[in-house]
Amino acid sequence: MSQTLKDLQEAFAGESQANRKYLAFAKKAEEEGYPQIAKLFRAAAEAETVHAHNHLRAMGGIKSTKENLESAIKGETYEFESMYPPFIANAKVEGKTDAERSFIWANEVEKIHARLYKKALDEIGKNASVDYYVCGLCGNTVEGEPPDKCPICGASKQRFKKID
Ligand SMILES: [Fe+2]
Ligand SMILES: [Fe+2]
Repeated sequence: MSQTLKDLQEAFAGESQANRKYLAFAKKAEEEGYPQIAKLFRAAAEAETVHAHNHLRAMGGIKSTKENLESAIKGETYEFESMYPPFIANAKVEGKTDAERSFIWANEVEKIHARLYKKALDEIGKNASVDYYVCGLCGNTVEGEPPDKCPICGASKQRFKKID
């Protein structure tokens, strides 16, 4: 692997993290009554997304939708098969309950993502029109209608956000 490819990967990871961090900071700033600072965080977050996408494009990480689905299935499968199980076990051993719960929720949802992506890949070109809803607490991703109660985290139906 070339040094530039390594640098692009590191930069993509960093910019991606900055985007999510700034959006979380913006939400907190809103809660604390700083709407202008919230807006600045959202502006910078938007810019970090532009940077992240530019880096990803420069490393050839965006291919055809068929290949992108395959890449997404691979990533999700790695997460729920190899990454999260030891993370969960270790958090449990260390008594880090917030981390354990966060890992468990993500682990469960990655399985769903892999399944939805596989289905989309199997049906590519003739995908039925369905709505997706995401649980604002655990990220559970649901096709069709949101459940009355999230089966993963127990959140109410109102916590589900419809995706455009
Ligand atoms: Fe996922
Ligand atoms: Fe949930």
